[in-house]
Amino acid sequence: MKLAANARAVLLVNIGQLLTLRSPSANGGPRRGRELRELGIVEDAAVLYVGGKVVCVGQTKEALRDPWLKKNRKKVIEIDCEGQVVFPGFVDSHTHPAFINPRLVDFEKRTAGATYEEIAEAGGGIRSSVEPVRRARRNELAGKILAALEEMAEQGTTTVEAKSGYGLTPESELKSLEAIRGAASQWPGTVVPTLLGAHVVPQEFKDCSQKYVESVCKEMVPQAARRKLAWFVDVFCDRGAFTAGEARQIFEAAADNGLRVRAHVGQLSETPLGPLLALRPASLDHMDHISEEDIQNLAAHDTVATFVPGANYFLGLEKYPAARKFIDAGVPVALATDYNPGSSPTASMPFVLSLACTQMKMSPAESISAATINGAWALGLQDRKGSVEAGKDADLALFEAKDYREVAYWFASNRCVLAVLNGVLIASAGSGELG
Ligand code: NIG
Ligand code: FE
Repeated sequence: MKLAANARAVLLVNIGQLLTLRSPSANGGPRRGRELRELGIVEDAAVLYVGGKVVCVGQTKEALRDPWLKKNRKKVIEIDCEGQVVFPGFVDSHTHPAFINPRLVDFEKRTAGATYEEIAEAGGGIRSSVEPVRRARRNELAGKILAALEEMAEQGTTTVEAKSGYGLTPESELKSLEAIRGAASQWPGTVVPTLLGAHVVPQEFKDCSQKYVESVCKEMVPQAARRKLAWFVDVFCDRGAFTAGEARQIFEAAADNGLRVRAHVGQLSETPLGPLLALRPASLDHMDHISEEDIQNLAAHDTVATFVPGANYFLGLEKYPAARKFIDAGVPVALATDYNPGSSPTASMPFVLSLACTQMKMSPAESISAATINGAWALGLQDRKGSVEAGKDADLALFEAKDYREVAYWFASNRCVLAVLNGVLIASAGSGELG
Protein backbone atom coordinates (compact mmCIF):
# COMPACT_ATOMS: atom_id res chain seq x y z
CA MET A 1 0.00 0.00 0.00
CA LYS A 2 1.24 3.50 -0.80
CA LEU A 3 0.13 6.52 1.23
CA ALA A 4 -1.18 9.42 -0.82
CA ALA A 5 0.36 12.70 0.32
CA ASN A 6 -2.90 13.98 1.84
CA ALA A 7 -4.16 10.67 3.30
CA ARG A 8 -3.78 10.42 7.04
CA ALA A 9 -3.23 6.90 8.36
CA VAL A 10 -4.50 6.26 11.88
CA LEU A 11 -4.05 3.08 13.87
CA LEU A 12 -6.19 2.37 16.91
CA VAL A 13 -4.47 -0.26 19.06
CA ASN A 14 -5.17 -2.08 22.33
CA ILE A 15 -8.91 -2.07 21.86
CA GLY A 16 -10.26 -4.32 24.62
CA GLN A 17 -13.40 -5.31 22.66
CA LEU A 18 -13.86 -4.30 19.05
CA LEU A 19 -17.45 -4.88 17.92
CA THR A 20 -17.04 -5.42 14.19
CA LEU A 21 -20.68 -6.43 13.39
CA ARG A 22 -19.17 -8.00 10.31
CA SER A 23 -20.88 -11.41 10.11
CA PRO A 24 -23.24 -11.46 7.13
CA SER A 25 -26.94 -12.16 7.66
CA ALA A 26 -28.32 -15.41 6.25
CA ASN A 27 -30.39 -13.83 3.47
CA GLY A 28 -27.97 -11.00 2.71
CA GLY A 29 -30.43 -8.39 4.06
CA PRO A 30 -30.78 -6.58 7.39
CA ARG A 31 -30.23 -8.58 10.62
CA ARG A 32 -33.14 -10.61 11.98
CA GLY A 33 -33.79 -12.87 14.97
CA ARG A 34 -30.64 -14.46 16.41
CA GLU A 35 -28.43 -12.59 13.94
CA LEU A 36 -29.01 -9.45 16.00
CA ARG A 37 -26.90 -11.01 18.78
CA GLU A 38 -23.82 -11.60 16.61
CA LEU A 39 -21.49 -8.70 17.25
CA GLY A 40 -18.31 -10.17 15.72
CA ILE A 41 -16.20 -9.22 18.73
CA VAL A 42 -12.40 -9.15 18.37
CA GLU A 43 -10.51 -8.85 21.64
CA ASP A 44 -7.23 -6.94 21.95
CA ALA A 45 -7.95 -5.50 18.55
CA ALA A 46 -6.54 -2.90 16.19
CA VAL A 47 -8.09 -0.91 13.33
CA LEU A 48 -6.12 0.91 10.66
CA TYR A 49 -7.85 3.54 8.55
CA VAL A 50 -6.48 5.72 5.81
CA GLY A 51 -8.16 8.70 4.19
CA GLY A 52 -11.57 7.99 5.69
CA LYS A 53 -11.72 4.26 4.87
CA VAL A 54 -10.99 1.26 7.05
CA VAL A 55 -7.99 -0.61 5.64
CA CYS A 56 -7.56 -3.48 8.07
CA VAL A 57 -9.06 -4.90 11.22
CA GLY A 58 -7.41 -7.55 13.39
CA GLN A 59 -5.58 -8.25 16.62
CA THR A 60 -3.10 -5.67 17.89
CA LYS A 61 -0.19 -8.18 17.84
CA GLU A 62 -0.80 -9.12 14.20
CA ALA A 63 -1.33 -5.52 13.14
CA LEU A 64 2.00 -4.47 14.64
CA ARG A 65 3.79 -7.31 12.82
CA ASP A 66 2.42 -6.16 9.45
CA PRO A 67 5.41 -5.33 7.15
CA TRP A 68 3.75 -2.23 5.66
CA LEU A 69 3.01 -0.88 9.09
CA LYS A 70 6.53 -1.60 10.34
CA LYS A 71 7.98 0.38 7.45
CA ASN A 72 5.51 3.27 7.72
CA ARG A 73 5.15 3.45 11.50
CA LYS A 74 6.42 7.04 11.62
CA LYS A 75 3.75 8.23 9.18
CA VAL A 76 0.96 6.56 11.11
CA ILE A 77 -0.83 8.28 13.99
CA GLU A 78 -1.23 5.70 16.73
CA ILE A 79 -3.95 5.85 19.37
CA ASP A 80 -3.75 3.57 22.39
CA CYS A 81 -7.32 2.64 23.38
CA GLU A 82 -6.16 1.29 26.73
CA GLY A 83 -8.30 -1.84 26.68
CA GLN A 84 -11.60 -0.03 26.11
CA VAL A 85 -14.56 -0.76 23.84
CA VAL A 86 -14.89 0.35 20.20
CA PHE A 87 -18.12 0.18 18.14
CA PRO A 88 -19.01 1.13 14.60
CA GLY A 89 -20.34 4.71 14.98
CA PHE A 90 -24.06 4.80 15.70
CA VAL A 91 -26.36 5.29 12.73
CA ASP A 92 -29.21 7.50 13.98
CA SER A 93 -31.72 6.79 11.25
CA HIS A 94 -34.61 9.05 12.40
CA THR A 95 -34.18 12.68 13.51
CA HIS A 96 -36.00 16.01 13.10
CA PRO A 97 -33.31 18.66 13.72
CA ALA A 98 -34.71 21.47 11.49
CA PHE A 99 -36.50 23.44 14.20
CA ILE A 100 -35.86 26.67 16.09
CA ASN A 101 -37.27 26.41 19.63
CA PRO A 102 -37.81 23.76 22.28
CA ARG A 103 -41.55 23.28 23.05
CA LEU A 104 -41.52 24.08 26.74
CA VAL A 105 -45.21 24.95 27.04
CA ASP A 106 -46.18 21.51 25.68
CA PHE A 107 -43.68 19.94 28.06
CA GLU A 108 -45.16 21.69 31.05
CA LYS A 109 -48.74 20.92 29.98
CA ARG A 110 -47.85 17.25 29.90
CA THR A 111 -46.59 17.39 33.46
CA ALA A 112 -50.13 18.58 34.30
CA GLY A 113 -51.62 15.53 32.60
CA ALA A 114 -52.35 16.64 29.00
CA THR A 115 -51.55 14.13 26.22
CA TYR A 116 -49.56 14.73 23.02
CA GLU A 117 -52.77 14.69 20.94
CA GLU A 118 -54.73 16.97 23.31
CA ILE A 119 -51.89 19.49 23.20
CA ALA A 120 -51.80 19.36 19.38
CA GLU A 121 -55.57 19.88 19.17
CA ALA A 122 -55.27 22.93 21.44
CA GLY A 123 -52.79 24.60 19.07
CA GLY A 124 -49.52 23.18 20.41
CA GLY A 125 -47.66 20.23 18.91
CA ILE A 126 -45.96 20.20 15.50
CA ARG A 127 -47.98 23.20 14.20
CA SER A 128 -46.60 25.41 16.96
CA SER A 129 -43.06 24.84 15.67
CA VAL A 130 -43.99 26.03 12.18
CA GLU A 131 -44.05 29.86 12.44
CA PRO A 132 -40.50 30.21 13.82
CA VAL A 133 -39.16 27.98 11.02
CA ARG A 134 -41.02 29.92 8.33
CA ARG A 135 -39.57 33.15 9.70
CA ALA A 136 -36.03 31.86 10.23
CA ARG A 137 -33.18 32.54 7.88
CA ARG A 138 -31.56 29.45 6.39
CA ASN A 139 -28.31 30.08 8.26
CA GLU A 140 -30.06 30.33 11.59
CA LEU A 141 -31.67 26.93 11.00
CA ALA A 142 -28.37 25.49 9.78
CA GLY A 143 -26.71 26.65 13.01
CA LYS A 144 -29.31 24.81 15.10
CA ILE A 145 -28.90 21.66 13.02
CA LEU A 146 -25.11 21.77 13.23
CA ALA A 147 -25.28 22.11 17.02
CA ALA A 148 -27.46 18.98 17.15
CA LEU A 149 -25.09 17.04 14.88
CA GLU A 150 -22.17 18.02 17.10
CA GLU A 151 -24.00 16.87 20.21
CA MET A 152 -24.79 13.56 18.50
CA ALA A 153 -21.15 12.98 17.57
CA GLU A 154 -20.15 13.60 21.19
CA GLN A 155 -22.19 10.50 22.06
CA GLY A 156 -20.83 8.27 19.33
CA THR A 157 -23.16 8.97 16.40
CA THR A 158 -21.44 9.24 13.02
CA THR A 159 -24.37 8.99 10.56
CA VAL A 160 -27.63 10.91 10.93
CA GLU A 161 -30.84 10.92 8.93
CA ALA A 162 -32.24 14.48 9.13
CA LYS A 163 -35.81 15.41 8.21
CA SER A 164 -37.39 18.70 7.29
CA GLY A 165 -41.03 18.97 8.43
CA TYR A 166 -41.57 22.16 10.42
CA GLY A 167 -41.94 24.54 7.48
CA LEU A 168 -44.93 23.02 5.65
CA THR A 169 -44.75 25.28 2.59
CA PRO A 170 -42.66 24.43 -0.49
CA GLU A 171 -40.43 27.40 0.25
CA SER A 172 -39.77 26.65 3.90
CA GLU A 173 -39.47 22.89 3.44
CA LEU A 174 -36.82 23.48 0.77
CA LYS A 175 -35.16 26.07 3.01
CA SER A 176 -35.05 23.44 5.78
CA LEU A 177 -33.45 20.93 3.41
CA GLU A 178 -30.91 23.56 2.32
CA ALA A 179 -30.16 24.22 5.98
CA ILE A 180 -29.63 20.47 6.51
CA ARG A 181 -27.24 20.47 3.56
CA GLY A 182 -25.44 23.55 4.91
CA ALA A 183 -24.99 21.98 8.36
CA ALA A 184 -23.88 18.67 6.82
CA SER A 185 -21.17 20.46 4.85
CA GLN A 186 -19.67 21.69 8.11
CA TRP A 187 -19.83 18.34 9.93
CA PRO A 188 -17.45 15.49 9.18
CA GLY A 189 -20.06 12.72 9.59
CA THR A 190 -22.63 11.57 7.05
CA VAL A 191 -26.09 13.18 6.83
CA VAL A 192 -29.01 11.64 4.96
CA PRO A 193 -31.63 14.32 4.16
CA THR A 194 -35.35 13.48 4.14
CA LEU A 195 -38.28 15.60 2.97
CA LEU A 196 -41.09 15.43 5.54
CA GLY A 197 -43.44 17.96 3.98
CA ALA A 198 -46.23 15.56 5.02
CA HIS A 199 -45.59 15.95 8.75
CA VAL A 200 -48.99 17.45 9.50
CA VAL A 201 -51.58 19.41 7.52
CA PRO A 202 -50.76 23.11 8.14
CA GLN A 203 -53.40 25.41 9.60
CA GLU A 204 -54.15 27.17 6.28
CA PHE A 205 -55.08 23.81 4.64
CA LYS A 206 -57.05 22.51 7.63
CA ASP A 207 -60.26 21.97 5.70
CA CYS A 208 -58.69 20.90 2.41
CA SER A 209 -55.93 18.44 3.24
CA GLN A 210 -56.04 16.98 -0.29
CA LYS A 211 -54.86 20.33 -1.66
CA TYR A 212 -51.90 20.19 0.71
CA VAL A 213 -51.10 16.61 -0.36
CA GLU A 214 -51.08 17.88 -3.94
CA SER A 215 -48.62 20.58 -3.01
CA VAL A 216 -46.37 17.93 -1.41
CA CYS A 217 -46.62 15.67 -4.49
CA LYS A 218 -46.45 18.28 -7.23
CA GLU A 219 -44.20 20.95 -5.73
CA MET A 220 -42.13 19.81 -2.78
CA VAL A 221 -41.18 16.31 -3.95
CA PRO A 222 -40.22 17.25 -7.55
CA GLN A 223 -38.26 20.33 -6.44
CA ALA A 224 -36.41 18.47 -3.67
CA ALA A 225 -35.56 15.70 -6.15
CA ARG A 226 -34.48 18.04 -8.95
CA ARG A 227 -32.24 20.02 -6.62
CA LYS A 228 -30.91 16.81 -5.01
CA LEU A 229 -31.89 18.11 -1.59
CA ALA A 230 -33.40 14.85 -0.31
CA TRP A 231 -32.68 11.14 -0.58
CA PHE A 232 -35.95 10.08 1.08
CA VAL A 233 -39.54 11.21 1.40
CA ASP A 234 -41.27 10.56 4.74
CA VAL A 235 -44.97 10.76 5.73
CA PHE A 236 -46.54 10.87 9.18
CA CYS A 237 -49.28 8.33 8.54
CA ASP A 238 -51.44 8.27 11.66
CA ARG A 239 -54.54 9.60 13.37
CA GLY A 240 -54.60 13.40 13.06
CA ALA A 241 -51.92 13.47 10.33
CA PHE A 242 -52.14 11.71 6.92
CA THR A 243 -54.22 8.68 5.88
CA ALA A 244 -52.78 5.52 4.33
CA GLY A 245 -54.30 6.62 1.00
CA GLU A 246 -52.58 10.01 1.18
CA ALA A 247 -49.31 8.37 2.22
CA ARG A 248 -49.56 6.10 -0.82
CA GLN A 249 -50.06 9.09 -3.11
CA ILE A 250 -46.97 10.74 -1.65
CA PHE A 251 -44.95 7.51 -1.91
CA GLU A 252 -45.92 7.27 -5.58
CA ALA A 253 -44.83 10.86 -6.22
CA ALA A 254 -41.51 10.08 -4.53
CA ALA A 255 -41.00 6.98 -6.69
CA ASP A 256 -41.87 8.97 -9.85
CA ASN A 257 -39.15 11.44 -8.89
CA GLY A 258 -36.54 8.80 -8.06
CA LEU A 259 -36.66 9.20 -4.28
CA ARG A 260 -36.93 6.37 -1.75
CA VAL A 261 -39.60 6.34 0.96
CA ARG A 262 -40.05 5.83 4.70
CA ALA A 263 -42.92 6.63 7.08
CA HIS A 264 -43.99 7.29 10.66
CA VAL A 265 -46.62 4.65 11.46
CA GLY A 266 -48.55 3.35 14.45
CA GLN A 267 -47.43 6.03 16.92
CA LEU A 268 -50.95 7.04 18.01
CA SER A 269 -53.14 4.39 16.39
CA GLU A 270 -52.81 1.26 14.26
CA THR A 271 -51.72 2.16 10.72
CA PRO A 272 -52.47 -0.63 8.20
CA LEU A 273 -49.07 -1.46 6.69
CA GLY A 274 -50.06 -3.50 3.61
CA PRO A 275 -50.62 -0.55 1.23
CA LEU A 276 -47.32 1.05 2.29
CA LEU A 277 -45.19 -2.10 2.22
CA ALA A 278 -46.15 -2.63 -1.41
CA LEU A 279 -44.04 0.46 -2.23
CA ARG A 280 -40.98 -0.98 -0.44
CA PRO A 281 -40.17 1.65 2.18
CA ALA A 282 -36.63 1.43 3.57
CA SER A 283 -38.06 1.82 7.05
CA LEU A 284 -41.34 2.18 8.95
CA ASP A 285 -40.91 3.91 12.28
CA HIS A 286 -42.49 4.05 15.78
CA MET A 287 -44.72 0.93 15.72
CA ASP A 288 -46.36 1.40 19.11
CA HIS A 289 -49.64 0.10 17.69
CA ILE A 290 -49.53 -2.79 15.23
CA SER A 291 -51.59 -5.91 14.49
CA GLU A 292 -50.16 -9.45 14.75
CA GLU A 293 -50.86 -9.80 11.05
CA ASP A 294 -48.73 -6.77 10.17
CA ILE A 295 -45.84 -8.08 12.28
CA GLN A 296 -45.90 -11.24 10.12
CA ASN A 297 -46.28 -9.07 7.03
CA LEU A 298 -43.18 -7.07 7.98
CA ALA A 299 -41.17 -10.23 8.60
CA ALA A 300 -41.63 -11.12 4.94
CA HIS A 301 -40.03 -7.84 3.78
CA ASP A 302 -36.63 -6.14 4.01
CA THR A 303 -38.28 -2.95 5.33
CA VAL A 304 -36.72 -2.18 8.71
CA ALA A 305 -38.98 -1.50 11.71
CA THR A 306 -37.37 1.41 13.53
CA PHE A 307 -38.21 1.93 17.20
CA VAL A 308 -37.84 5.37 18.80
CA PRO A 309 -38.36 4.72 22.52
CA GLY A 310 -37.10 8.22 23.44
CA ALA A 311 -40.56 9.43 22.35
CA ASN A 312 -42.34 6.95 24.63
CA TYR A 313 -40.09 8.01 27.50
CA PHE A 314 -40.51 11.74 26.97
CA LEU A 315 -44.28 11.56 26.45
CA GLY A 316 -44.50 9.56 29.68
CA LEU A 317 -46.18 6.58 28.02
CA GLU A 318 -46.49 3.33 29.91
CA LYS A 319 -46.35 1.28 26.74
CA TYR A 320 -43.26 0.81 24.57
CA PRO A 321 -43.08 -0.95 21.18
CA ALA A 322 -43.27 -4.74 21.55
CA ALA A 323 -39.71 -5.30 20.36
CA ARG A 324 -39.59 -8.97 21.43
CA LYS A 325 -42.59 -9.85 19.28
CA PHE A 326 -40.99 -8.20 16.25
CA ILE A 327 -37.59 -9.84 16.80
CA ASP A 328 -39.03 -13.26 17.54
CA ALA A 329 -41.16 -13.05 14.37
CA GLY A 330 -38.04 -12.29 12.29
CA VAL A 331 -38.63 -8.57 11.60
CA PRO A 332 -35.39 -6.60 11.07
CA VAL A 333 -35.39 -3.86 13.73
CA ALA A 334 -33.43 -0.61 14.21
CA LEU A 335 -33.24 2.00 16.98
CA ALA A 336 -33.05 5.78 16.58
CA THR A 337 -33.40 8.91 18.75
CA ASP A 338 -36.27 10.66 16.89
CA TYR A 339 -34.51 13.87 18.01
CA ASN A 340 -37.26 16.56 17.84
CA PRO A 341 -38.71 19.38 19.97
CA GLY A 342 -42.09 17.79 20.71
CA SER A 343 -41.71 14.14 21.57
CA SER A 344 -38.02 13.29 21.88
CA PRO A 345 -35.51 16.04 22.61
CA THR A 346 -32.47 13.77 22.96
CA ALA A 347 -29.36 13.38 20.83
CA SER A 348 -28.22 10.34 22.78
CA MET A 349 -28.11 6.92 21.12
CA PRO A 350 -26.66 5.35 24.33
CA PHE A 351 -29.81 6.51 26.16
CA VAL A 352 -31.96 4.93 23.44
CA LEU A 353 -30.03 1.66 23.93
CA SER A 354 -30.71 1.88 27.65
CA LEU A 355 -34.46 2.31 26.99
CA ALA A 356 -34.45 -0.59 24.52
CA CYS A 357 -32.92 -2.87 27.14
CA THR A 358 -34.83 -1.74 30.23
CA GLN A 359 -38.24 -1.00 28.71
CA MET A 360 -38.40 -3.20 25.61
CA LYS A 361 -36.38 -6.20 26.82
CA MET A 362 -33.96 -6.16 23.94
CA SER A 363 -30.60 -7.62 24.91
CA PRO A 364 -27.60 -5.24 24.92
CA ALA A 365 -26.24 -7.05 21.84
CA GLU A 366 -29.55 -6.73 19.97
CA SER A 367 -29.74 -3.05 20.80
CA ILE A 368 -26.26 -2.47 19.37
CA SER A 369 -26.98 -4.26 16.07
CA ALA A 370 -30.22 -2.26 15.83
CA ALA A 371 -28.35 1.03 16.36
CA THR A 372 -25.54 0.32 13.90
CA ILE A 373 -25.83 -2.18 11.03
CA ASN A 374 -29.64 -2.22 10.89
CA GLY A 375 -29.72 1.59 11.11
CA ALA A 376 -27.45 1.55 8.07
CA TRP A 377 -29.92 -0.75 6.27
CA ALA A 378 -32.76 1.60 7.21
CA LEU A 379 -30.92 4.29 5.21
CA GLY A 380 -29.73 2.11 2.34
CA LEU A 381 -26.14 2.67 3.53
CA GLN A 382 -25.34 -0.92 4.50
CA ASP A 383 -22.40 -1.07 2.06
CA ARG A 384 -20.64 1.87 3.73
CA LYS A 385 -21.85 2.08 7.33
CA GLY A 386 -22.80 0.06 10.40
CA SER A 387 -19.85 -2.34 10.71
CA VAL A 388 -16.07 -2.15 11.00
CA GLU A 389 -14.67 -3.85 7.90
CA ALA A 390 -11.96 -3.16 5.37
CA GLY A 391 -13.36 -0.94 2.62
CA LYS A 392 -16.12 0.61 4.73
CA ASP A 393 -16.13 4.21 5.96
CA ALA A 394 -13.97 4.92 9.01
CA ASP A 395 -16.83 5.60 11.44
CA LEU A 396 -16.00 4.51 14.98
CA ALA A 397 -16.88 5.29 18.59
CA LEU A 398 -14.61 4.60 21.57
CA PHE A 399 -16.26 4.24 24.97
CA GLU A 400 -14.88 4.37 28.47
CA ALA A 401 -15.91 0.78 29.18
CA LYS A 402 -14.29 -2.65 29.41
CA ASP A 403 -17.42 -4.53 28.35
CA TYR A 404 -19.75 -3.48 25.51
CA ARG A 405 -22.82 -4.00 27.72
CA GLU A 406 -21.76 -0.99 29.77
CA VAL A 407 -22.78 1.35 26.97
CA ALA A 408 -26.45 0.48 27.51
CA TYR A 409 -25.99 -0.01 31.26
CA TRP A 410 -24.83 3.46 32.35
CA PHE A 411 -27.61 5.92 31.64
CA ALA A 412 -27.84 9.69 31.65
CA SER A 413 -24.06 9.90 31.39
CA ASN A 414 -21.80 10.05 28.38
CA ARG A 415 -19.13 7.36 28.18
CA CYS A 416 -18.10 8.14 24.61
CA VAL A 417 -14.52 9.35 24.67
CA LEU A 418 -13.77 9.65 21.00
CA ALA A 419 -15.63 9.42 17.72
CA VAL A 420 -14.19 8.97 14.24
CA LEU A 421 -16.40 10.36 11.47
CA ASN A 422 -15.30 9.48 7.95
CA GLY A 423 -11.76 9.37 9.34
CA VAL A 424 -12.02 12.67 11.27
CA LEU A 425 -11.33 12.34 15.00
CA ILE A 426 -13.51 14.16 17.51
CA ALA A 427 -12.70 13.93 21.21
CA SER A 428 -15.74 14.21 23.45
CA ALA A 429 -15.84 17.12 25.89
CA GLY A 430 -14.54 15.96 29.24
CA SER A 431 -12.70 12.95 27.82
CA GLY A 432 -9.26 12.33 29.32
CA GLU A 433 -5.97 12.08 27.44
CA LEU A 434 -5.65 9.08 25.14
CA GLY A 435 -2.68 7.53 23.41
O1 NIG B 1 -41.66 11.29 15.43
N1 NIG B 1 -44.77 11.84 14.92
C1 NIG B 1 -44.40 12.77 14.28
N2 NIG B 1 -43.24 13.40 14.39
C2 NIG B 1 -42.42 13.44 15.58
C3 NIG B 1 -42.90 14.44 16.54
C4 NIG B 1 -42.60 15.76 16.07
C5 NIG B 1 -42.97 16.84 17.02
O2 NIG B 1 -43.79 16.64 17.95
O3 NIG B 1 -42.44 17.92 16.80
C6 NIG B 1 -42.20 12.07 16.16
O4 NIG B 1 -42.52 11.79 17.33
FE1 FE C 1 -40.25 11.27 14.07
